[in-house]
Order: sequence, then structure tokens, then C-alpha cells
Amino acid sequence: MFYSFRFLFLSIITCFYVLGPSCSQLQYPCKPPYDKYQFCDTSLPIKTRAKSLISLLTLDEKIRQLSDNATQISRLGIPAYEWWSESLHGIATNGPGISFNGTIQSATGFPQVILTAAAFNRTLWREIAKAVAVEARAMYNLGQAGLTFFAPNINIFRDPRWGRGQETPGEDPMVTSAYAIEYVTGFQGQNQRGSKHPYRERRFLNDDDQRSGSLMLSACCKHYTAYDLEKWGGHTRYDFDAKVTKQDMEDTYQPPFKSCIVQGRASCLMCSYNRVNGIPACADRDLLHKARNDWGFKGYITSDCDAVATIFENNNFTKTKEEAVAVALKAGTDINCGTYMLRHMKSAIDQGKVLEEDIDRALFNLFSVLLQLGLFDGNPARRQFGNLGSQNVCSSEHKTLALEAAMQGIVLLKNNQKFLPWNKNDISSVAIIGPMANTMNIGGDYTGFSCNPESILQGLKNYVKDTFYAAGCQDVPCNSTAGIPEALSIAKEAEYVIVVAGLDLSQETEDLDRYSLLLPGHQMALIRAVASVSKKPVVLVLTGGGPVDVSFAEGDQQIASIIWIGYPGETGGKALSQILFGEYNPGGRLPMTWYPESFTSIPMTDMSMRADPSRGYPGRTYRFYTGERVYGFGHGLSYTNFNYKILSAPERLSLSGQVKGKSRRYIRQGGGNGLDYVLVDDVAYCDSLRFHVQISIINHGDIDGSQVVLLFSQVPKSFTGAPERQIVGFDRVHALAYRSVETSILVDPCEHLSIVNEQGSKILPLGDHTLMVEDLKHTLSIEA
Ligand SMILES: *[C@@H]1O[C@H](CO)[C@@H](O)[C@H](O)[C@H]1NC(C)=O
Ligand SMILES: *[C@@H]1O[C@H](CO)[C@@H](O)[C@H](O)[C@H]1NC(C)=O
Ligand SMILES: *[C@@H]1O[C@H](CO)[C@@H](O)[C@H](O)[C@H]1NC(C)=O
Ligand SMILES: *[C@@H]1O[C@H](CO)[C@@H](O)[C@H](O)[C@H]1NC(C)=O
Ligand SMILES: *[C@@H]1O[C@H](CO)[C@@H](O)[C@H](O)[C@H]1NC(C)=O
Repeated sequence: MFYSFRFLFLSIITCFYVLGPSCSQLQYPCKPPYDKYQFCDTSLPIKTRAKSLISLLTLDEKIRQLSDNATQISRLGIPAYEWWSESLHGIATNGPGISFNGTIQSATGFPQVILTAAAFNRTLWREIAKAVAVEARAMYNLGQAGLTFFAPNINIFRDPRWGRGQETPGEDPMVTSAYAIEYVTGFQGQNQRGSKHPYRERRFLNDDDQRSGSLMLSACCKHYTAYDLEKWGGHTRYDFDAKVTKQDMEDTYQPPFKSCIVQGRASCLMCSYNRVNGIPACADRDLLHKARNDWGFKGYITSDCDAVATIFENNNFTKTKEEAVAVALKAGTDINCGTYMLRHMKSAIDQGKVLEEDIDRALFNLFSVLLQLGLFDGNPARRQFGNLGSQNVCSSEHKTLALEAAMQGIVLLKNNQKFLPWNKNDISSVAIIGPMANTMNIGGDYTGFSCNPESILQGLKNYVKDTFYAAGCQDVPCNSTAGIPEALSIAKEAEYVIVVAGLDLSQETEDLDRYSLLLPGHQMALIRAVASVSKKPVVLVLTGGGPVDVSFAEGDQQIASIIWIGYPGETGGKALSQILFGEYNPGGRLPMTWYPESFTSIPMTDMSMRADPSRGYPGRTYRFYTGERVYGFGHGLSYTNFNYKILSAPERLSLSGQVKGKSRRYIRQGGGNGLDYVLVDDVAYCDSLRFHVQISIINHGDIDGSQVVLLFSQVPKSFTGAPERQIVGFDRVHALAYRSVETSILVDPCEHLSIVNEQGSKILPLGDHTLMVEDLKHTLSIEA
């Protein structure tokens, strides 16, 4: 594929730049004289065109479509197609469908997702997805990218050691769902219908959505499901068996996937490597059918790359390779990223394990998506998006958005006595110290080639004339203390000191989980030593996606401020400078709990979300974790002070007349305490129960600022297995100094005030629910 792909790309370049866009070298399906085929007829429905194309293929041709590297079908004028391109937070180099070796040699490097998530700003998330989509289509037009991308990663950041937690929007299912919806609709170029919370709207796609050109690009909800372990304690992602209860599955692991499909209308779902309760995800018929039957999924299902091979090779789930191929296809996996189906499908058919019609079903899903993408509509240069080119990549608009994202996401964790912001004119000299200061590798994983790569050090140098720099540690692992004396000598000289430390991809990435939450090697010793000799307290800047236990720094008076910048990407130095010097007032909030090092005594393999005191298990994430934390979910400071007022919210909600039959139930718990509830499935008109919570946010300081409003809820009594609290809605607002703003958060009781019981059913407890914003509380009584 690489070769044919390179050929495709070279010929397009020649066409565009030598002969013009209509030249005959350009490779695309349905090019004359092949445009006479029925599958090229844009006046016909997608279904008809897909079926017609399949009917023309031989069995061998069909099998050669079941790989990400789909083979050309020359006699029908169909060129090869590479399904695998990556776009997690900008066009990445990871997939073979992308080439930076052409007219376009770089693309905008947006911050890693965990930092963008910390902005809690739906508009921002959507704008980024739209910008990445524009760059992707531009690269496609130049033969440098495909149309099908394997993003977003919406697994729950369940364990702080997870190497890919950085790729996700964090630990909360509702926030992750919201991110998935914005990313997918923005990237696929669909209009988002309904309000900010389009719950339950448009459960199923209309045929009407399946027009050619209805998809700008294809996004993929991955990795389905309960995938969040790379390599830990003798387990790898290729063979890990995630043991998940029905309750955790329903209220933690599945909601982002459901939202990604139901509201996001994603055209791709990727099944993961791991097993879920014994069954490899790509071989799990119930799991994959749930997406199609219950959620109305209409796209294609791809395996993670080589996840069909691992069914046999790593999991021993089948006795033969042919059985692995058969079980995956029959379960609903439509295409194998990798070559396993390519190599073993023929013998699986010969052995009677697969029928040609099983393959036809897969091809129908695959071609339907390609048809919706307009791939079979003829010359791409003459169609929608055909005018996008290199002028649309690394545009100043996109670079500004990347900077905006980094600034909005950066979290101020500590700021003693308003040590920050600094006044630019008052500063004579700054020492910049640390292993992450002078590196370009600040994009996190799934990064491509950035437009204008710049280190944090360079970004700061543009702001302060007199800077000194010392690495302190030779690299992030920081094996040696040899660099510390040099760092101390510049720390003593300078008026102000910034230490840039934390994690990089040598500590956390794909195939690499951490074992400790402490800063690597001698980093802590470096920070402490620098803080103890500097003239003034220092500012500690932390990089990385996963949380680190920096309780030493939180408690150290010589460390006045701590700022988390995640993997900010190419604009990180500038974003940090704007925050240090008060040109931007930080408003990011942590989208995940920062646990202490003691958390690492629990096995990473334990998928339980809920605490279990009987075995000393503390639970996971802010919803269930009962232990100490370094910083909690939602922590984040501002240079100004905000207050809240709940302006309006109902005090009573009556379900009368809404509940079907005998569905009101009562749970008796120990000690005679009980709980009345109704099954959400039995509430006839959930939508009519929705209400708004009107909140006023008052800025009490003399600095303008953005504030993230997090609305939580708590169910009536202590109910076994209920979360401590859960997010009901969120919004990011901007308030001028000494002024207030209002926001209105839509609450859907069936969706947000419900909890999941041990059988995996959603229940709505009756009685007094508590709505909470910071320390404000409001009681809402739900009656049957
Ligand atoms: C893609 O498949 C073709 C055969 O159809 C093969 O020649 C090529 O090497 C493959 N490319 C990659 C990257 O595997
Ligand atoms: C890019 O192309 C140049 C020659 O034009 C080649 O030397 C180089 O290896 C290519 N790089 C990649 C990553 O393909
Ligand atoms: C699969 O079987 C092989 C030997 O047949 C064994 O080495 C391996 O540990 C088994 N793997 C699993 C996940 O059971
Ligand atoms: C770190 O130290 C270990 C042994 O203590 C050594 O094997 C390794 O190469 C060192 N790494 C670096 C980057 O210096
Ligand atoms: C949310 O993001 C958008 C897009 O970057 C931005 O225009 C808006 O100001 C942000 N909202 C707040 C309150 O920061």
C-alpha cells in the first residue's frame, strides 16, 4: 500500500502543479471511463450503490478489502485505499495514511487532549475538531492523508498510571461524552442539532443522513471498551482480561461510547485489544451488536491494529487463526487494521467457518462510509472541500486556536499570596531550569510535525530579555544529580526562578504505563534544592498527561506557585508566558484526580470503580475514590475570586402520571433505611422532566477572567454503590472584573440524576437530591 499510496501522491502533485487539477493522472474511483458503473451514480441512494459495487467483486477482491491497506481493484478503476490515518489533536504521523513528505510538511499541533479537556469549553473542543478536519481534507486533496481517522480516544482515565490517559478527556463519563460529541460532529462536518445537551435526541440516523458528501471525514470512537492498560505487572493490552461489573460498565465505561454514537453520530467504532469479562472485544458479538441495535450505529467497525490476530495469538481465545478471523467477522468487526483477515480469510472460507455473505455485510458497512465521504463521486478537486489546500494548513487562524486552547486548558494548581501574575516591567532576570524547558517534545503522543515548533524556553525568552537556563537533569528520567550544581548557581543569581519538570513520553505513552506517581529520578531533589537557594520563592511548571504526586511542592513555602501545562504543543511557551505575566487569567480545571503515591499499592488490573473497605480498596475517580488526594478533580485557581449564586432551580419534581405500571420500587437496606426509586426505562416522558439551573457567577476581583462552572448532584440517601457526587453539567463563562455573568445548565433527570444499580439498570431515586456548585447546595425533591 505504501508504494501505491506514494504513487498516488506523486501523481496528484504532478497533476496539481504541472498539469492542473483536471489532469488525467489523478487517481480516484469513478474516473472516466469507469464512471459508467452504477456505484458511481450519485443520483442513487448510498445503499444501492454499495450493494451494486459489492455485486461486482470476486471473492478474492472482497477479501483484499478487509485490511486497512485495501487493495486496488484495477478493472473497476478503484485505487488502493489506506483506512488508517490519525488526528487525535492535529494530524499525526502514527497512521500509514498520513505523509508529511509532500507539499504540506507540517500541520497545526494542538495541545494533547487532556489539556484541552481541562478548558471545559465545548466551543473550543468543537473549533479544534473543525480546524483539524480542514487540515485533514487539505492533506487528502494533496494525496497526503486518507478520509478515515482513528480518533477520538474516549476511554475513561481510570488509573493515574495509564500511559494513554493523556489522550483522553479525563476521568468523568459525562465530560468525556460531551467531548466525544463535539469532536465527532465537528470533525465529520455535521451540524449538531439540539441544545448543548442533546440527550436522547435523534436516537437513530435517518436514511437521509446517508447521502454522499454527508460526511466531511470519518471519526472513530475508540477503544471499545474498558481499555485502559498498556503494560503493567505482567499484563499487556494484548492479553489483559478486564473484569468489569455490569454496574461499572453501565455508568462508567460505556457512556462515552453511547454518546459518541447516539449524539455524535460517529461513522466508525474501534474494538479494543483487551478482553472484557473473558471475551476479546473484537470477538464479542453482544458488545458490538449493542452499538448497532441499541444505539443505532450505522458506520463500520474496525479492529484496533492487529486486534484480530491477538484473539488467537495472545488470548488463545480460539484454537486456530481461521477461527479468530471468523469469530471477529461474525461478531461484527468489519475490517481488520492489519493483515490477519487478509491472510486467513480464504482458508476460513474453505473450512466453512465464514460465508461470503458475512464478508458482504462487512463490505456494505465499509463502502457505505466511503460513499458518504464522497470517495466514489469522481474528481475530488471538483467537489465539496476540493478547494482546500496548503493555504488552509498552519493558517494563522489555526495557530491562534492552538494557543487559545493551551491558555484555556492550563491549570493553576497553587498560587501562594498571589505570587503570580508577574509584572513584565518589574522583572530584571529569570532563571529557567529543568529537563522539560528546552525540548520540542511537548506535544504528547499522536503528534505530527508542528508548524512552528518552539520549546518552553524559547517561548519565555520572547517575553523576558534577561534569562539564564540550566537543564538541571540531563533528561526527564533524571538519573544523575550531576547537573544540579549548575542549576543552583543560576538560581542564586536570578531575580525569579521557574522550574519546568514533570513527565514526557519516556514515562507515559502507548505501551508504557508508570509504576510510580512521583516525579522521575532526581527531579524532586532538583526542585527542592533550587527552591531552597533562590532569592524569592519559585514557580514550578509541570508537564505530562498523568497526575504526579507533588505533595512535597504543595507543602513547600519556597514553591509559591505550581502550574500544570499538560502537553501544550507548539504554542506552550507562549501560552505559559501569557499566564505568568497576567496577559491571560488561567481558568483550567483538572479533568482527573491527582492521587498520592500510596495509590500505587492497588493493582492497576482492578477495574472496579467503587470503593470496597472490606478489602482496603479505595475506589477510583472523584465519583468513588475515598482516599487522600494531592489535587481533586475540578481543582484549578484563578488570579481573581469568584462567587456563585443559584438564581433558579426547581425544588420539586413530580413524576406523577409518567411512571408506567408497577415500576415504583423500594430497596430495603441494612438498619431499616430504604430507598424508593423508579426504573428510568419505565419513565414515560423523560424529556418533559428536563429543567434549567440558572447560576450567577460573580467576579469579585479587579482582573477579568474565565471560570468553569461545574454542577454536581448527589442522590438522596447513602445508597450502596452510588457515586459520592457526579457531574450534571458544566459551562465555561467569562466575567469582567467586578461584574457578574449568568449561565443556564440544562439537567435531564433521567440522564443526570439517575444512578446505576448492580444489575446494570438505570434507576432514578425518589426523595431529596442535592445539586451543588462549589460549596452552594440546592435541594430538589423528586416524587413519584
Ligand atoms: C499494501 O498492499 C499492497 C498489496 O495490495 C502491498 O504491495 C503493499 O506493500 C502494502 N503496503 C503496506 C504498507 O503494507
Ligand atoms: C521523504 O522524502 C525524501 C526524498 O524526497 C526521502 O529521502 C525521505 O526518506 C522521505 N521521508 C519519509 C519519512 O518518507
Ligand atoms: C496461550 O497459549 C500459549 C501456549 O500455547 C501460552 O504460552 C500463553 O501463555 C497463553 N496465553 C494466554 C493469554 O492464555
Ligand atoms: C539511568 O540509570 C540506569 C542505571 O542506574 C542506566 O542503565 C540508564 O542507562 C540510565 N539512563 C540514562 C538516560 O542515563
Ligand atoms: C471558549 O472557547 C472559544 C473558542 O476558543 C472562545 O472563543 C471562548 O472565549 C471560550 N470561552 C471562555 C469563557 O473562555
